[in-house]
Amino acid sequence: MYTNIFDTHAHYNDRQFDEDREIVLAELPSAGIFRVVNCGTDIPTSKISIAYAERYGYIFAACGVHPHDCSHETEDWKTELRKLLAHPKCAAIGEIGLDYHYDFSPREMQKDFFERQIIMAKELDLPIIVHDREAHADTWELLKKYAPKGVVHCFSGSAEMARDIVKLGMYIGLGGAVTFKNARKPAEVAKCVPDDRLLLETDCPYMAPVPFRGKRCDSRLIPCTAEVIAGIRDCDPQSLIDRTTENAKTLFNII
Ligand code: NI
Repeated sequence: MYTNIFDTHAHYNDRQFDEDREIVLAELPSAGIFRVVNCGTDIPTSKISIAYAERYGYIFAACGVHPHDCSHETEDWKTELRKLLAHPKCAAIGEIGLDYHYDFSPREMQKDFFERQIIMAKELDLPIIVHDREAHADTWELLKKYAPKGVVHCFSGSAEMARDIVKLGMYIGLGGAVTFKNARKPAEVAKCVPDDRLLLETDCPYMAPVPFRGKRCDSRLIPCTAEVIAGIRDCDPQSLIDRTTENAKTLFNII
């Protein structure tokens, strides 16, 4: 069994966990899960992330407004978000970014929310958790402009873009997508990211790794992803887990 697993991106507030959330969350530590960052996607889910962090010692919160959700935020979102970010177990602003695949919010609005939250992160010296789906050019423009601390999660860009992001000082988050059969680009990325810049994540309940693809995911499936990445990098899965956990502790300033 693997130990010391740090899931840097989870959504345990998702309704897919409504039936058995407490059971799953109670079981994670004994399954080798050391820490979890639960990511909000708007103000209400960010509040839930904080509530989980208060209840479970191993959970930390990320609070932020996702590109899908900016169009339904109320005007006082920035004030509300600032209050949540002051919580001692809020480790990051996230998840934030751009999504031009679904375009659930107008692109100009997505960019505005993303930029404002990057500025807030710089001001508060917090890392950001970035969602970039089919918006690589605009995401890169904003990251380059501010060079924030943070991670591009479920990274789907090219190996070249991954290198640029690493040069900027940021981290690359990889999850179940690396294990998919057609995952040529994520595999190239998994090979090229330096040891000290790689993070593991689930994005659960989504993105379950092979052989659980399509099923509900939780942090206990990280070893499937770690084994594939370790195979690509020709290293031992537990040492990969240990290294990525150290990286996550550094980035999120978590002991
Ligand atoms: Ni997510």
